[in-house]
Amino acid sequence: MCGRMTVHGAKNAVLPMLAASVLTPAPVTVRDCPHITDVEDMLGVLRALGVEVTVTDREITVTGSPACTDIPPGLAGGMRSSVFMLGALLSRCGEVELASPGGCRIGARPLDIHFDGLERMGVRVECGDGRILCTADRLHGADIVLRYPSVGATENLVMAAVCAEGVTRIIGAAREPEIVSLVRLLRKMGADIAGEGSPVVTVRGVDELDGASATPSPDRIVAGTVMAAVAVCGGRVELSGADSSDMGAVISPFLGAHTFLIEHGGAITFESDGMLSPTDVCTGPYPLFPTDMQAPFMACQCFAAGMSSMRETVFEDRFAHVAELRRMGARIAVAGNTAFVDGSGGMRGSVIAASDLRGGAGLAVAALGAEGESILSGTVYIDRGYEDMAKMFSSLGGKISRRRV
Ligand code: EPZ
Repeated sequence: MCGRMTVHGAKNAVLPMLAASVLTPAPVTVRDCPHITDVEDMLGVLRALGVEVTVTDREITVTGSPACTDIPPGLAGGMRSSVFMLGALLSRCGEVELASPGGCRIGARPLDIHFDGLERMGVRVECGDGRILCTADRLHGADIVLRYPSVGATENLVMAAVCAEGVTRIIGAAREPEIVSLVRLLRKMGADIAGEGSPVVTVRGVDELDGASATPSPDRIVAGTVMAAVAVCGGRVELSGADSSDMGAVISPFLGAHTFLIEHGGAITFESDGMLSPTDVCTGPYPLFPTDMQAPFMACQCFAAGMSSMRETVFEDRFAHVAELRRMGARIAVAGNTAFVDGSGGMRGSVIAASDLRGGAGLAVAALGAEGESILSGTVYIDRGYEDMAKMFSSLGGKISRRRV
C-alpha cells in the first residue's frame, strides 16, 4: 500500500455535535463532516424533529427549534446515536420520547448510566413497550458520579446541564477526544464548561445558548484502520489531518521492529514491511486502546508470526468477527473476554460476513492482507463509519472493489 489520504472529522464527534445543535434556534455549523450513513441518519432524526438542516459538502448547518420531541422509531432504532438526543432535547424542550436505540449488536448496551444521571438532574424516565419517555419540568444541577466512564452518558449529561439551574459536576466522566470536540462547540455557543478530557467535568448552567460553528477532531479510528491495512499489506501511507496527540494508544501497538511512524505538520506517515510482531493488547476507556480499534487490530495480529492476545474490556460481546477470521484460516481461541491469536498459520481469502461496523472494518483489513480473493458482505455496517472503504483502500493500492448485489 502506498499513497496519501485525508482523515476527516470523527463520526463519534460529529454525531453529538449535531445533537447539540437543537440546544439553540440559532444556526449551528459542524465542519469537515464525513460522508457516512450514521451522519445521514442523524440528519434524518433532526429533520424529523422539525429543525432545518443544510448540507454543503462536508459542512452541515442546523437551524430552528424542534417542533416535536418524539423521535420516529424507524430512525432511532437504526442507531444508538439517537440516544445523544436525550440530553439536548430535555434541555431545550423538557421532554423526549424515543425507541430503545439500536446500533451495532455488540452487547446489551444499557442506558442506566444516562438515566441515573438525568434523574439526579430532575428528569423522570419511563421505559416500556420498546419506548423511552423522559420528562423534566426544570433541569437542575447535581453532582453525578458515573459508575463507568460512558462516552454517551458523559455527552448527554453535559448537554442536559448547559442550561440547567445551578452547577453540575460529572465525576468519573469519559475523556475521549470526541467529547472535547463537543465541549469546544458548546463553549463557542456560550456554555460554561470546564474539565473536558479529565475525569471531572463541571458545567455551570446559563440562560441560553447562541449559534456557532466548529470543526470536530479527526477520526482516530479511521486513521487507525488505515494503519492496520498498511501493517498487513506492507507499504507507506501519509494520513493528512490525523492528530497524533489523540492517537497515542492507537499508535503504540503498531510500533515495533517492522514499522516506522513519523508525525509532521498535521499529518502522520506510517510505514510497515508487512512483517508484524506478536502483541498483547487490552481495550479500555480513553486514554487506553480504543475498543473501536479492537477488530481492525486483531486482523493485524492474525498476520503476526507468534502468539498475540486481545482483551476486550468495554463491550461484553464484541468478538463476532472472530468466527469470520477463522474462515480465513486464523487460529484464534477465545476465553471469556480475551482472544488468543496465533498468527503463524497465514490467512487465505474466503467468503466472510460483517455483522457490525468495526468488525466489518477488521475483516476488510484481513482480506486485504490474505492470500487470494475474499468476498465480504455486510458493507451496510461498514458504510456507517467509513466513507466508501473500497475506494479509500484502492486509492492506496489495496486490491479491493465494491460490487452492488
Ligand atoms: C460510544 O458509544 C461510541 N459511539 C462507540 O463507537 C464506542 O465504542 C464507545 O463510545 C466506547 O468508546 C458513539 O460515540 C456514537 P459507552 P457509547 O456508553 O456511548 C456500558 C463505533 O463503532 N454502558 O461508552 O454507547 C456499555 O454497555 C461505536 O463508532 C452501560 O452499562 O459507549 C459499554 O459496555 C461503537 N450503561 C460501556 O458502558 C450505560 O448507561 C461503554 O459504553 C451506558 C453504557
